[in-house]
Amino acid sequence: MRIDCISADIRAVKADMVVVNLFEGAKRPGGAAAVVDAAIGGAIAAAVRGGDFSGKLGETLSLRPSRGLSSPRVLVVGLGKKEKFTSDHARQAVLPVLKEAKRLKLSTVASVVHGAGGIDPGIAARFCALGAALSAFAFDRFKEEKAHRVARFLFVERDAKAFPTVRAGVSWGARVGEAINWGRSLVATPPAELRPDDLARAARGVGRGIGAAAARKVRVRVLGRPELSALKAGGILAVAKGSPAPPRLVVAEYRGGSPGSPWTALVGKGVTFDTGGISLKKWEGMEKMKYDMAGGAGMLATLRASAALGIRRNLVAVVPCVENMPSGTAYRPGDVLRMMSGKTVEILSTDAEGRLILADAMTYAVRKYRPKEMLDAATLTGACIVALGSVNIGMMGNDGGMLSRMKAASAASGEKAWELPLHEEYFEQIKSDIGELKNIGGGEAGTITAARFLQEFVDGTPWVHFDIAGTAWVEKERRGYAPGPSGAPVRLLVQYLSS
Ligand code: BES
Ligand code: MN
Ligand code: ZN
Repeated sequence: MRIDCISADIRAVKADMVVVNLFEGAKRPGGAAAVVDAAIGGAIAAAVRGGDFSGKLGETLSLRPSRGLSSPRVLVVGLGKKEKFTSDHARQAVLPVLKEAKRLKLSTVASVVHGAGGIDPGIAARFCALGAALSAFAFDRFKEEKAHRVARFLFVERDAKAFPTVRAGVSWGARVGEAINWGRSLVATPPAELRPDDLARAARGVGRGIGAAAARKVRVRVLGRPELSALKAGGILAVAKGSPAPPRLVVAEYRGGSPGSPWTALVGKGVTFDTGGISLKKWEGMEKMKYDMAGGAGMLATLRASAALGIRRNLVAVVPCVENMPSGTAYRPGDVLRMMSGKTVEILSTDAEGRLILADAMTYAVRKYRPKEMLDAATLTGACIVALGSVNIGMMGNDGGMLSRMKAASAASGEKAWELPLHEEYFEQIKSDIGELKNIGGGEAGTITAARFLQEFVDGTPWVHFDIAGTAWVEKERRGYAPGPSGAPVRLLVQYLSS
């Protein structure tokens, strides 16, 4: 779907549907909705007066006026209460629009930017366009009957003074949305079609399709088993042992910063399928473990979005890719691994594999790039789903400044993340009798002990960890998200990196 922005009067725009909006509790339509309503003879006002439409977030009113507009249909979307309106509501308001457009098999939709009366118009434009891009996502490769594709989504701004700001916002949202959808397709792909080598091949294309200027600043390298052996990547090599598919370490650079400026490392878990290994998972829900590379896809998508936006930073995404399988060659509970850093780890569960591959990836990032800061994202613990559900990303780190900037980015982007404590007391739980560390911390505080394990490998680098186990996959439609891969935590990270 193409997303554009034009300066025009929406009454004169030729599209299959025009979209305006109403805040909840408004007595009558305002702004563009009032202009459209006057042209079509007052049907919107009548629906509001009669109680057919109240403007709740996600509510829609569909009309087919016989006169007054160059387009045959009008959709009014509810925005919820004006005082409560945020950038994330702008994103959420667009999902029902695409649903309606797909249902009616429309090819062009023209919409005003929602919520510009409540929040900054440039921000509203960003998140409406992001919402449009995300809502157009469909993964239907395996369906005979394809989802309908809306060809064009046009944002219409009447005010010539506001237009440049709105247009820039729309362009931002469209680019970020494209990058997020690129990552979502990877997450949705069945595990037999996306094994470590396939994920690495996809990663090679992370800079493709976002313009030649951006692509020139992206460089991708992929390390295989020989290089990983030479690097003594004991964690990655051990987890990969159970699968005939060899491991990969993706290293993708984006040089957007001035020459010589420091790196930000983005480390993402790339387990293309997590059976649990010898500590086998139960069958229920195991099919979902194809999303165990969502952190890796998210970090690559973050790099893609940053390149597409021309963010002035040097970024390196480091994604260890493995398949965690049980077999006669698999690593075992009781094994003691020597990690790339030199630390030894006693394996108690082969299902706590994510931290093992991430630890080596972090060591690699620290040694090779000496980053000024490190972020990592992983579908790391079921315990995170227990603690925070599907609403918040679990966030932990070793640097107060970074954490507070991340909280600000979370509020601005609408992607919720909540800090859990990393107090030193938790370290007790992961000390081993036979080696330095053990790979699980027992039943308590599983999300925290997993993060504390990772902290042993950051070597003092300012660092924030994101546990996206609860947020990377949407079970059923809610809060403006369609079921399937959500794209977490890309929106949050792009916001962080651009401020
Ligand atoms: N990929 C899983 C985490 C996970 C579990 C994500 C369920 C989403 C839903 C991870 O590799 C894992 O298996 N973690 C274990 C850790 C435990 C053995 C300490 C878990 O959470 O059960
Ligand atoms: Mn696991
Ligand atoms: Zn896993």
